Amino acid sequence: MPKPNDPPVAKASEPLWKDEFSVFQERERFVGRRQMIKFLTLTSLGMFAGNMWILIRSWLHREPAYPRQEIARIGEVPVGGVKLFRYPNSKEQCLLVRTGEEDYVAYSQKCTHLSCAVYYSREDNQLICPCHNGRFSIRDGAVIQGPPTRALPHVVLERKGGELIAIGMSGRLES
Ligand code: FES
Repeated sequence: MPKPNDPPVAKASEPLWKDEFSVFQERERFVGRRQMIKFLTLTSLGMFAGNMWILIRSWLHREPAYPRQEIARIGEVPVGGVKLFRYPNSKEQCLLVRTGEEDYVAYSQKCTHLSCAVYYSREDNQLICPCHNGRFSIRDGAVIQGPPTRALPHVVLERKGGELIAIGMSGRLES
C-alpha cells in the first residue's frame, strides 16, 4: 500500500512521462474534440464552397437565349420541299422541311457524327448524311442508322400569322 509521500509509480501499461504529466491528459482529450469540430467545420465549409461552385457554373453555362428569326412564309415551300436557312447565327446551317400540308420541321444540317451536311430524301422521308450513310428520322431527328450516336439538333418553330419563326433549338451542343 503506497504512502502519501511515496514517489509516484508508473503503471505498467503507460510510460513514466504520462504518469508524471498526467495533468495534460484531460487537455489532450479536449484538444482532440476541438480538432474534430474544426475538421467537421472545415469539411462542411469545403462542401458548401463546392456546391456553390457547381451552382455558379451551372448558372453561367445555362441555355443561351435564342433569337426569334423569321425563316419562311407559310406556303412558300411545297409539300416535300426544303428551304435552307442559318440559325441561331450566320455560321449554323439548318434546313426546313415541309412534311405535310400543315406540317413543318427544321433541324441543324450538321451531322452529329463528323459534321457533314445532311439532306432530305423525299423518297426515304429521312435526313441522310452522305459521308457515312448516317440516317435520321424526319419526325424527331433521331438516329436511324449509321455511325452517329446523337439525334440532329431540332429547331423549335412557331407559326405566327403567315410566317414560320425559329425561336430556339434543342439537343444542340454548345461549341
Ligand atoms: S459525318 Fe455523317 S455519318 Fe459520318
